[in-house]
Amino acid sequence: MESLKGLILSGGKGTRLRPITHTSAKQLVPVANKPVLFYGIEAMAEAGIEQVGIIIAPETGPEIEAAAGDGSRFGVRITYIVQDEPAGLAHAVLTAEPFLGESPFVMYLGDNLLQGGISDLVSAFREHGPDALILLTPVPDPQNYGVAELTKTAAGEVGRVVRLVEKPKEPATDLALVGVYMFTAAIHDAARAIEPSPRGELEITDAIQHLVDNQMRVEPHVVRGWWKDTGRLQDMLEANRLILDNLIERVEGELIDSQVDGRVVIEPGARLERTAVRGPAIIGAGARLTDCYIGPYTAIGEGCAISNAEVEHSILLAGCTVSDLAGRMESSLLGRNVTVRRGERQPRAYRFMVGDNSDISIL
Ligand code: G1P
Repeated sequence: MESLKGLILSGGKGTRLRPITHTSAKQLVPVANKPVLFYGIEAMAEAGIEQVGIIIAPETGPEIEAAAGDGSRFGVRITYIVQDEPAGLAHAVLTAEPFLGESPFVMYLGDNLLQGGISDLVSAFREHGPDALILLTPVPDPQNYGVAELTKTAAGEVGRVVRLVEKPKEPATDLALVGVYMFTAAIHDAARAIEPSPRGELEITDAIQHLVDNQMRVEPHVVRGWWKDTGRLQDMLEANRLILDNLIERVEGELIDSQVDGRVVIEPGARLERTAVRGPAIIGAGARLTDCYIGPYTAIGEGCAISNAEVEHSILLAGCTVSDLAGRMESSLLGRNVTVRRGERQPRAYRFMVGDNSDISIL
């Protein structure tokens, strides 16, 4: 078999994560202080993939290139491929055809997180040699995903793929297509054969259905661990929680009259004074925390300054300032360099300067 390549899709507009994505690519929003995209690149490296193509959009591509570089820090070689318009996942595959050539490849949606990586899948793909391998997981809202119908074997195990439908109004099952796929070069002709969907995109789901219709072997795998598509705020917080749950404790910053409990990482140069951190939580390099309580499932970005405040189950990107809050901040996502503070001036009133599509809730 030709050597396996990797294809990571990192275009898209990230509309569901606005306003954060007005100024930054959704794949660079950090989970446990690391861009979502990096988890995918690391999963490829771990599976022994050396050549990784990253599909980028003209708007956010330069930022992604600056963040991931040539891939040497991950142990892979990255080729950037510009997709001029967000015309669908199958269109992205066709855009990458010159890079992929005849090689089999793993396709990974850059905003997806898959527990346990992809090494096992790569082995199964190599061993069984199907034309495509898809990953499935039961979800409560299948109408928001590609949905699979399978035959059942006598033993009740998953059988063959019968039908794949993209975002069906009336889903036949609750098995959603996870954003990680393995393909042989047969997918290129399938992507050429299909028509755009009602949302105007060339859907990878339809291209895989085309393989099924042409008697090619599409092997289904139901994933055992968790999987997250981090497209929305709630999913982002959930992904943060899941990753932080596996954190390995490490305290490198400075603690002054402070207490740290549970799985906590304090990066170098961070300084905590009269502060309690209850893990799992991560405090980024150079952050300053004074008279604070940081609760479970919180990721504080590099250089944040927090004083006189309680923060829990939240993600703060680099450079945020939070001070003198009357209540606890929770389930929040703050973009870069955001300030949240208690006002000093009379009259007592809320004063905001917030970007488009911001979402604020106040009791
Ligand atoms: C895409 C695919 C869908 C899949 C999902 C996984 O959806 O079209 O089949 O279930 O990724 O995250 P999209 O993110 O484009 O809505």
